[in-house]
Amino acid sequence: MRILAIESSCDESAVAVLDRRKGLLAHELFSQIDLHRVFGGVVPELASRDHVRRLLPLLRTALEKAGTGPVDLDGVAYTAGPGLIGALLTGAALARSLAYAWRKPAIGVHHLEGHLLAPLLEPDPPPFPHVALLVSGGHTLLIEVQGIGQYQLLGETRDDAAGEAFDKAAKLLGLPYPGGPELARLAESGRPDVVRLPRPMLDRAGLEFSFSGLKTAVLHATREQPLTDQRRADIARAVQTAIVETLTAKSLRALEATGLDALVVSGGVSANRALRERMSAAAATLGARVYYPRLEFCTDNAAMVAVAGLARLEAGEHEGLGIQARARWPLASLSAVPGDVLPSAHSSPSA
Ligand code: KG4
Ligand code: ZN
Repeated sequence: MRILAIESSCDESAVAVLDRRKGLLAHELFSQIDLHRVFGGVVPELASRDHVRRLLPLLRTALEKAGTGPVDLDGVAYTAGPGLIGALLTGAALARSLAYAWRKPAIGVHHLEGHLLAPLLEPDPPPFPHVALLVSGGHTLLIEVQGIGQYQLLGETRDDAAGEAFDKAAKLLGLPYPGGPELARLAESGRPDVVRLPRPMLDRAGLEFSFSGLKTAVLHATREQPLTDQRRADIARAVQTAIVETLTAKSLRALEATGLDALVVSGGVSANRALRERMSAAAATLGARVYYPRLEFCTDNAAMVAVAGLARLEAGEHEGLGIQARARWPLASLSAVPGDVLPSAHSSPSA
């Protein structure tokens, strides 16, 4: 089976081609970050319009690089939600129309299932069952993953997502959008333990997160002393440490609570180096292993949509002729994909 996949849920336009046996044949991405930066965040209408401009050229390039055409494809997957509704509709309309014209099945993919399954593209994929920590700009979730489509929520954030906490703190430090990677860079020149920030919910039992208090604490820290370059770096370091420590402690708690020894960390924030180092070291003390997507598949991309789409198409699922797009879509409402579908859709080095 070989499928085309399209992602357009937020500010990345992306197209990928995944082959069951040969792995990832192509993955193309255009990030709209420059377009939105002047506004300090994603402007939904601009995002939709830019997807319309970008998707067809990306599609052509992806098909060309994959050396494939409609006749070789067995289906078209697209992100159907959750996300910005206008942005979702651009990819969904394109994918559904192509599938109709090519007489192929189409499948609407849950964006978070894509993030969760992204590590399956790596040469050493995670075993099932495992615990997953999904940390993106919009979500912070701890999930027990029994299999594809079997997601039991263990805990989530009560307010801001981890990526949002990075972005808001970065904004207070005068860093450009999106602040997560910028803050991580600045934190490298920050000194440890000079600024101390709260670790909300860490002292409480359970697997819930809360990051909104961090923003207020950062605001105070920026006002306490003159905001020199060193002070900004020290604050950045403290923000990163507070978020990383909280995520690590709760993930370990989830491993202990479930008795599982494999942890997937995915979503944009899983690109954070400090998080990866801390998490892997901490999990090792429990005899557990951590699995990450490669860096470029931590943030939004179409390869992960292809993995989820391929698993579901192979299981015989597909959509009717309607265009599916849902701004909100609970992960728990997904159906289980039977068997050990898709343990071997590794990407080839040609990608
Ligand atoms: O998964 P993603 O691309 O989009 C969503 O579905 O939300 O995640 C984007 C989020 C942003 O908040 C961004 O600041 C954060 O991931 N992020 C990072 C890093 N790279 C991306 N946060 C911390 N450190 C990074 N290296
Ligand atoms: Zn995402």
